[in-house]
Amino acid sequence: MYPGEVSKEALDWKAVQGQHITAVQRNILVLGSGGREHALAWKLAQGEGNKVYIAPGNAGTAEVGTNVNIKVSDFEGIKKFCLDHEIGLVVVGPEQPLVDGIVDFFKEDARLQKIRIIGPDKRGAQLEGSKAYAKEFMARNGIPTARCLTVNKTADGAAFLKSLKAPYVLKADGLAAGKGVLILDSLDEAMSELDNMLGGKFGDASATVVIEEFLSGIECSVFVLTDGEHYVLLPEAKDYKRIGDGDKGLNTGGMGAVSPVPFCTPDFLQKVEERIVKPTLNGLKQEKIDYKGFIFLGLMNCGGDPYVIEYNVRMGDPETEAVMTRIEGDFADMLYACADGCLDQVYYAKSEKTALTVMLVSGGYPEVYQKGKVMTGLDQLRDCVAFHAGTAFDAEGRVITAGGRVIAVTAQGSNIMEAREKAYENVVKIKFEGENHRHDIGLDLSPLTSHL
Ligand code: AMP
Ligand code: GLY
Repeated sequence: MYPGEVSKEALDWKAVQGQHITAVQRNILVLGSGGREHALAWKLAQGEGNKVYIAPGNAGTAEVGTNVNIKVSDFEGIKKFCLDHEIGLVVVGPEQPLVDGIVDFFKEDARLQKIRIIGPDKRGAQLEGSKAYAKEFMARNGIPTARCLTVNKTADGAAFLKSLKAPYVLKADGLAAGKGVLILDSLDEAMSELDNMLGGKFGDASATVVIEEFLSGIECSVFVLTDGEHYVLLPEAKDYKRIGDGDKGLNTGGMGAVSPVPFCTPDFLQKVEERIVKPTLNGLKQEKIDYKGFIFLGLMNCGGDPYVIEYNVRMGDPETEAVMTRIEGDFADMLYACADGCLDQVYYAKSEKTALTVMLVSGGYPEVYQKGKVMTGLDQLRDCVAFHAGTAFDAEGRVITAGGRVIAVTAQGSNIMEAREKAYENVVKIKFEGENHRHDIGLDLSPLTSHL
């Protein structure tokens, strides 16, 4: 079904699902503790009868559900909680538990098998867990991506590096907390960084390195929800990765997001579906990877043609904080349908509004920063949602900072400028020592300001 279309079957499906998802199965556990998980829990909590738990959560998730003090790596603790609380659906936020096999853990346990879980198994999660695997998968399935070579020894990479033009892209094969990609201006730097990476710059994650051709274009994030057979394209978004205005300075987890993205035209999205989404899902099927969950396509738009920069096996952060506000209806129904293999029949509509998210971060982030700063102004916010990322309560019950990315303010408008205005009106009301944010989220995308 094409996004936004509401079929009669979808409405019938809702009636049937309403019967088969009992009150008990409406207990949902979201794993993770960031802005993405707050946005997921916020959206899920809006559905009738849904009771949402978040493990471990943050000060914001406590407002939309019940926080549970269990780490995402504690599979036995998660199992006990799911059984004790009759959880019907588990939504895995971050990639690490997926790469570590949490879905396999559920599938292999006689008592957990009946619980629906959103995310790929360990093999599917390799699309994000190993860049070399992802590149081989794309090559096998004819999916457009940058030319590359995977190496374990510096000498093996020299000739390929010399064959490329500057800048040079080096990627640690494994998960490196979002830091494993280096983009270097000169061949000498690239050679010496290749040596450093293979020598353990990112630990085991860079024992293998993918050398890639540099793609120039504009990036965007396209989100697919698939049940292995069918798929839905969720609202796309643009992320702002650098710490400073004008996309200057160090790379971060993401400083803001906008959805929809003006350059993701229907024509571009159709190319994404035909050239990337369908071949990816066919490839997964052919390789007998049973994939029920999110596929986040990090794409480069090169002159109107999409290329895959990376696959992620989860939703993006902060993109989710914008995307969730544009999904209409009960998102839990979509996830139940995903787990049950009937995504083709689910009700799905998205708002035509523009959502814009600004991330407030701790002073010093993405390098060294302090935690424990008291936050004020949250009670002053109007016409927006503030999704908590790194926040906690102190002993007196006050909200304090507890991470680099602290809180994401999302507002909607009928265009980017309106959404920007509302978001920033609220951003300036939130105060904590060292607070920092970008001032230019969305400016590059609006026809009125893109020349600035
Ligand atoms: P990744 O962790 O793969 O998303 O890479 C981090 C960032 O590096 C991406 O968001 C891009 O901005 C950039 N990047 C990665 N691969 C390439 C490439 N082949 N060409 C240009 N930029 C890239
Ligand atoms: N915003 C990019 C990511 O979640 O990886």
